[in-house]
Amino acid sequence: MKFASLAIHGDGKTAEHSGDVVPAIHLATTYRQPGVGEFQEYVYTRGSNPTRLALEKRLALLEDARYAFAFSSGMAATDTAFHLFKVGDRILLNDNVYGGTFRYASKVFGSLGLSYDLVEDFNTLDFDRLPGGVRGIFLESPSNPLLRVTDIRRLAEKAHERDIILIVDNTFMSAYLQKPLDLGADIVVYSATKYYSGHSDILAGVLALNDGEKAGRVKILQNTLGNPLNPADSYRLERSIKTLALRMDRQCANAAAVVELLRTHPKVKRVFYPSVGGENRRIQESQSRGFGAVLSFILRDDCDPARFVGALSLFDFAVSLGSVESLVCHPASQTHETFPPELRKKAGIEDGLLRLSIGIEDIEDLLLDLERALEAA
Ligand SMILES: Cc1ncc(COP(=O)(O)O)c(C=O)c1O
Repeated sequence: MKFASLAIHGDGKTAEHSGDVVPAIHLATTYRQPGVGEFQEYVYTRGSNPTRLALEKRLALLEDARYAFAFSSGMAATDTAFHLFKVGDRILLNDNVYGGTFRYASKVFGSLGLSYDLVEDFNTLDFDRLPGGVRGIFLESPSNPLLRVTDIRRLAEKAHERDIILIVDNTFMSAYLQKPLDLGADIVVYSATKYYSGHSDILAGVLALNDGEKAGRVKILQNTLGNPLNPADSYRLERSIKTLALRMDRQCANAAAVVELLRTHPKVKRVFYPSVGGENRRIQESQSRGFGAVLSFILRDDCDPARFVGALSLFDFAVSLGSVESLVCHPASQTHETFPPELRKKAGIEDGLLRLSIGIEDIEDLLLDLERALEAA
């Protein structure tokens, strides 16, 4: 079966006896056991819950993964992935990483005994000159907010030659557009708050992988750190995922039209999108089925980003992405304000940079709104 059918029907098996075509929401936090020393599959909801399990099975199917876990946020999934490392390990992150992940590395790694380095371009990284102790790579491709694309297949090969674990944050793509595990990554994480939820109303995270030993460890961590997704949101997330393919197709088509407008507009200095730039586009086409629906751009120097944002009426000025409504954000003061200013500058996150997340509205309305705002900028 293909993606949309799998998202709706899963493997066709339901754990319910009732014949429900959707999973039930199991709210019980504890489950009756047969007797002393005898346990059944469900004991306590932090460790396992039937609604969450139904979601996790569906996620694994969509990801081509043997195991998937649902968490209370994207950061909870990322936190769990970082707990797979041990004291002394060094992790490489792309320098255009989500601000919250950078905050984790800069503020939390120290207490876990981990260290990190930022890498500008993993495509040209010389693995023979890595610092000692590198055990992990955490990558976003396309990156955030400059939409730089990394060749995941090549990076996975290089990493594995040196026993380095490759973790990909696939939030910008979703499993519908890109499957990092099939490209050789070891672990994929998501902010499911974004495209999987799709409606800006569920905070959730996902971690998927194929290695049984690591999956066992993740299960222990999920139970011990106490960060699984609750049953009601597990149900709501599974429901949202059923329309992921539809939403994504529309969002990508709308984004392509917006990119076309911005690239040829006299008030726009530069546009960042995976289809822009020869090498970026070539790699993206080789590993994904689309370019996604997040793009960034810089206005001409004599234009005012604040005036542009203020003149928009359909685009909400808000962080986050991936939902049905279009959003505009200012990475330097919002998603990436955790980066010190000099690092932000070095990573190319200029003060004039704006990021758009394109929704499913009628494209004529989106283009008109952008044209008016550009006029006012
Ligand atoms: C790429 C990316 N990864 C991870 C996260 C963190 O996810 P959450 O907000 O669900 O904790 C975000 C949130 O914006 C993100 O954009």
